[in-house]
This record gives sequence, C-alpha cells and structure tokens, in this order.
Amino acid sequence: MNQVSTYKSIEWKEDRLVLLDQRVLPREISYIEYKHHEDVAKAIKDMVVRGAPAIGATAAYGLVLATREKATKELSELRNYLSKAAELLQAARPTAVNLFWAIDRVIKKAHEDSIKTVEDLKKVVLNEAHQIAEEDIEMNKKIGLNALPLCSEKVTFIHHCNTGALATVDYGTALGIIRTAHEHGRDVFVYVDETRPRLQGARLTSWELKQLGIKHKVIVDGASGYFMATGKVDLVTVGADRIARNGDTANKIGTYNLAIVAKAHDVPFYVAAPTSTIDLSIANGKEIKIEERSAEEITTILGQQITPDDVNVANPAFDVTPAKYITGIITEMGIARPPYEKSLTEMVERAENERKK
Ligand code: MRU
Repeated sequence: MNQVSTYKSIEWKEDRLVLLDQRVLPREISYIEYKHHEDVAKAIKDMVVRGAPAIGATAAYGLVLATREKATKELSELRNYLSKAAELLQAARPTAVNLFWAIDRVIKKAHEDSIKTVEDLKKVVLNEAHQIAEEDIEMNKKIGLNALPLCSEKVTFIHHCNTGALATVDYGTALGIIRTAHEHGRDVFVYVDETRPRLQGARLTSWELKQLGIKHKVIVDGASGYFMATGKVDLVTVGADRIARNGDTANKIGTYNLAIVAKAHDVPFYVAAPTSTIDLSIANGKEIKIEERSAEEITTILGQQITPDDVNVANPAFDVTPAKYITGIITEMGIARPPYEKSLTEMVERAENERKK
C-alpha cells in the first residue's frame, strides 16, 4: 500500500486486521489485532477506529475476516454468512455513509458470477478490501491537490474534529488539504477546534500536525467566532460523514455552528470528502440519521465525572450543515459548487466511470 504516514490507522497483516487504538492517543500508542468480524464491529462502535473513510475500509476488512471464520466448502453458505456479517458491521454506526458504501461494494463483488469456489470468494473479498483502502489514499491526495489553488502563500485555517491519516486509510481529507499546502511550501497555520466531547481535535489532529511540523493552536470549540472576528482566518475546512444530493452535509457536532460563524465573517467554508461520502440516494440532510452516543462522553473526562450525579444529557455525535453555508465541496474529482444537486451528481458519475475503467 502507498502509505505516507509513519503510523497506520488500519493495517491488514497476513490473516488479521490491526487497528491503532484512537481512544488512548496521544498518551499511548497501542495497536489491537482482530481476527473476528464481530470484534471489528465492536471496535467501530467503541471508536477504536473512527472517521468516515477509516470505518468504511475497516468494515471491508471485517468482511475479509468473516470469509475466513466459516468452515464450509459451500459457496451459498459462505455468502449467507457474509451477508449476516455485513448486517452486523452496518449496525456499528449509523451516520457515515462510507461504512455502508464499502460494505455494499464488497458484497456486490462477492456475488459476481465469476466466483465458483469459496477460495475464489475469499480472494475476491480480500482484493476488494485492499482496493478500497488503496483508492482511499489516492483520493485523499487528489483532494489536497484540488484544494491547493484555494491556499495563498500564507494561509490560516480553522479545522474541526480529526480528518487526517487517522480518520482515513492515510493522508486525510480536510487535514490532507492542510498537509498538501504545507508540502507545497505554503506558510500554514491552523486553529484546531478541540471538538468536544471526544476531543478528536485536541488529541488527534494536534498529534498529527505536530508530527508533520505544521504550526497550530488548539482552541475551544466556542472560540472560532473570536478568532474570525479578531484574527485573520482565510479558510474553514471540515470533513464529512454523509453529503446529501443537495449538498447538506453531516459532520462532527459543532460543524454547523462553525459554518454559521464563518458565513457571518465572510470566511469561505469548504467541506472535503471523497465521492464515497456523497449519498445521492437522499435528497437532503433531513434524511440523514444522526448517531446519539452515550451520556458518559459528556459527563466524564478521562474517566473522571464532571457533572452532578444523574444529570440529563443529550449527545448527538453529528449535525447537518445546510448547503447554503457551504462555499464548495472538494472531492478527488474537483471542487463542486452550488447548485450541488447538479455538480455532485456529475462528480459521482464521473468517479464511478473512472472506477470501472
Ligand atoms: O465520530 P467520528 O470521530 O468518527 O467523526 C469523524 C468526523 O466527523 C469526520 O469529520 C468525518 O468522518 C470525516 S473524516 C475524514
């Protein structure tokens, strides 16, 4: 694989999947090995691995494990087992469409007529998982290059959540743009939203930026307005978990607030995502299922309770930014501009055609 970072969020090793445990970063660099798809589903749910493209690729490898769990010579029996494994993996997290996209892709391949034996099936599923992983890295690098013309010689970003090598198979989407600008000699500075409640910005994005030697400051989520009003912010770049046909975008909770603040200060607000994050089957953001996570994510920090006992908590993990606040959607195929229904549909079609070549 064309790995570019020194650490690997996801790695297939011979007969097992290895995940970098993102729950304990940056205090601990710890890898966990998986040999059963049920444990992989749990790892996605518990956020050992997270970020839309990363969980898609992880689920694909979860299906590879499923093909090796069942001792059978019957193709139909193995296909049935694989379908059950797919259902379990899909149930791990509801919002990021990449999870469903990757699983659908593998299942479709697994049903091709050219497959005659269980050994064929195992090979095809493994190849497809590798393909998904490799394509992800290539798409991310293209996203970075497509965004380069938006970055002036000296450029200051605000970034939300973590969209880097950790959230993808490698390189990153919105963080990949920042990385590309830095690699092309731009003088880059990043305000990093800490991203409550799981602190993907404070823990993961700052960890990645530090290793890349990119200047940054971690700020609390509520400070973005202050920095847009008093400092110079050129661009906001965020990732996406699902983009509807009209451009409405689900991303980490707090993204919507950031978009409104950016609009109020005339700061361009860009979403960066591979075309695998675009869901043309839904007309708008109202159709996106938003994951509600546990109360403990809010009531505790590093295992320490910070609220009174039995406090009521609401913890949506994502919000939807209406398309009208989005300046452009940067994909591996280029920058989609409003009206998004037309530009996104055209981009997805082009990406699918290219994949068929
Ligand atoms: O809950 P998480 O950490 O999986 O949420 C991640 C995000 O919201 C990212 O911005 C999105 O998945 C894009 S990652 C390239």
